[in-house]
Formats: sequence, structure tokens, C-alpha cells
Amino acid sequence: MNVKFDYEKAYLSNKVSEYQDVVDQAHEALHAKTGKGNDYLGWLDWPENYDKDEFEAIKVVAKKVRDNAEVLVVCGIGGSYLGARAAIDMINGLYSKQDVEILYLGNTLSSTYISQTLEYLKDKKFYVNVISKSGQTTETAIAFRLLKNLLKTQVGDAYPDYIIATSDPKNGTLRQEINEKGYTSFSIPADIGGRFSVNTAVGLLPLAVAGINIDDLMQGAKDAMSDLDNPSLEENTAYQYAVVRRLLEKQGKDVEMLVSYEFQMAMFAEWWKQLFGESEGKEGRGILPTSVNFSTDLHSLGQFIQEGKKLLFETIINVELVSEDIIFPSDDEDLDNMNYLSGNSIDYVNKKAQEGTLAAHYEEGSVPNLILSIPDMSAHTFGYLTYFFFKAIAMTSYLIDVNPFNQPGVEVYKRNMFALLGKE
Ligand code: PA5
Repeated sequence: MNVKFDYEKAYLSNKVSEYQDVVDQAHEALHAKTGKGNDYLGWLDWPENYDKDEFEAIKVVAKKVRDNAEVLVVCGIGGSYLGARAAIDMINGLYSKQDVEILYLGNTLSSTYISQTLEYLKDKKFYVNVISKSGQTTETAIAFRLLKNLLKTQVGDAYPDYIIATSDPKNGTLRQEINEKGYTSFSIPADIGGRFSVNTAVGLLPLAVAGINIDDLMQGAKDAMSDLDNPSLEENTAYQYAVVRRLLEKQGKDVEMLVSYEFQMAMFAEWWKQLFGESEGKEGRGILPTSVNFSTDLHSLGQFIQEGKKLLFETIINVELVSEDIIFPSDDEDLDNMNYLSGNSIDYVNKKAQEGTLAAHYEEGSVPNLILSIPDMSAHTFGYLTYFFFKAIAMTSYLIDVNPFNQPGVEVYKRNMFALLGKE
């Protein structure tokens, strides 16, 4: 198991094993594809059944971009962007030494952000990876048109050579444009929804351009697929987590706070929030997913967690081996009185902060704490962890009889916005 799950500090009133029968039924519905949303279960065996030819083609295109570009602009929103950004930050860190810089657009309607990004790109050699399953998401379509115009000013009629499009294999406006303009293109499988798509071309192309080993990532997802195939609550850690969440909800915990002690995990938390919020938050049900980065946010939200209303539980992502570490130096003058830490590593201090915080929140604040330990922040771990959360959200949603694979509520704002903008 690459993800270890410890729920000893959950303050559970009931036993996880009491759920075995309902978990067995939900597992059967999931794997026999008879449950809610069963036409969106392509992610379940994707780590084995992915398109191997497309996978190799992704590597070839990524190499071309790496050889020719200074910047890759990933143009997408929600499930068509968060996963790639989460992976690139987690695996490469926030100051990547890679030759190609990865920027993100199509994820906002902020005119300042869009215009500053375009200004930054003006003198750069860049490629665009536009990603949209539906091909008609407003934020993405606006940015894509602006990026095309900028490319045209740089390279004229050759602009299609600098565009890689990832979309539905057959349908949608973007697919039509791909066919017309002959862009290099990849597919988002019809049976995999946006927030479950990070291990498809949606995430793989940007990751490969960012120098990440996508073979390792797929191996991680495959290892998780095999480890988490068993419905037994004694063995399946994703199902244990799924059940513990439901038990905590019954005990009045309506908010889950994903806690990380690594800045490079912040976008992973954003990805997780979409996966969990969009999957189970419907029909007046679900646990609100939130996130914090400690120790930073202990200096802002720490007070509430410790002594405020008892509505939340914490899920800590504990990284066993960090990507880089520093030994804290000694200083002859010791004017800051910090010599007591000399010779220790910064990660040692961070881990002690984690230990101390856990004790404070759990023992003194009575806040349930779940611990998900991951070995490192590698591509293999990312592949494993994403699959772990896919399996967990599918199970935990089935346990409250919610379809985890649709998002009807997201359409409401779009309808209103289109009416206000006069779109037919
Ligand atoms: O999970 C989802 O389905 C959504 O977040 C979509 O990914 C997001 O709305 C973008 O949609 P599209 O890929 O169609 O542009």
C-alpha cells in the first residue's frame, strides 16, 4: 500500500466494520457498472486499459514542445486543468528547474490576469494545450481565441502548428475546429468525466512537457487499482476512508479540512476539493471539502480549529520523505536564540510542528484527525493517490446514494450568465 490510512484519532462512536455489507453492495454496483452514473466509470480500469498508442504519441509531442518552446500554456478549467497543475506542483515543486515553463489560462474571467499573461507571452516562444471535453466552456474558449490571436501575430498562418488540443473524441465545437484546422490532438474518453481525467491525455501531455515521468505515474495508478480492488474493509484503505467520513458526518462533522505541510501540495488540495465537492455535494447532501496549509495557516485558522465550533475533521496528508531538505546552521552570535535548532533539518522542525499540532487539535481541541501517509511526492505516488481518491469518493458517494459522476448544479450559473450576456 502506497497510501497508509490511520483513523485511530477519529473519535468514532461506531465501528467501520459495521459498514461491510453496504460496502460490499456498493463495490458490486461500482464494478458491475450497475450503480448511479455507470456510464462514467472509464477511470476504474483506465490504468490497465489506457490507449497505449496515444500514450506513446503524447511522449513524442511533449518532446517536440520541450525542444522548441519556452512556455506551454495549459488552457482549461476545472477537471480540464486542476489535475495537471496539482501534479506539476507536487512533483516538480514551485520553482521548477525544467526548461519549459508551464502557465495556466482559460481558468478565469479576470481581465487583468488574462491581459498580464498575454503580455508576458508576447516575446516568448510558446505552445498552447487547449483542453475542453465539451469544447464550449466560456472561460477556456475566451482565452483560447486570445491565445490564437497572439500566436497569429507571432507566426502568422503557421499558428495551428503551435496548438495541441485535447477534447472529446467525436463531439463538440473544439473537436470540429480540430478537424478543420488539423491541430495535433488527443482524446478525453467519453466515459471519463473531467475531475476523473488527470491520468488521461488531459494531464499526461502537460506533465510530460514538464519533464515528469508519465510511465511512473501510470504505474502508481495501476498499483492502486490492484491494491484497492478488494471490498474488504480490513484491507481496502480507500473504502476505510470512505466509511470513516460517513461515520464522522453522522457525528455532526459537516466539514472536512485537507491538511498539508508542503506548499507544493496546495494545488493538489484544490484538485481534491473539486473531486469531492462536485461529486458528493448534491441533493442537499455531502461534506464540505476545505483545505489548509500548515504551519502557515495555523497563524490564521489555527484558532478556529482549536477552539471554534466543532463542525470539522482534519485529513492530514503526511509526506514521509520530502523532496529537498536543509540543515539549519549554527551562528556564533546566536542573536536570534535559534541555536537550539542548529544541526537539525528544516523538515525535522516541520514534522515536530505536525506532531505538536496533531496533539493540540486532537487531544486538547477534540477535533477528529485522519492521517493519510504517502511515501514521497513522486509521479508514482501522484498516480497512486489520485486513484485512491477516485475510489474513495465513488464509494463514499454511493454510501449516501448520490451519483458521484454528474454536476447538474454547475449548470445553473452558466444559464444565468449566458442569459445576461445574450447568448442564444
Ligand atoms: O469535472 C468536470 O466535469 C468539470 O470541472 C469540467 O472539467 C469543467 O467544467 C471543464 O469542462 P470542459 O472540459 O468541458 O471544458
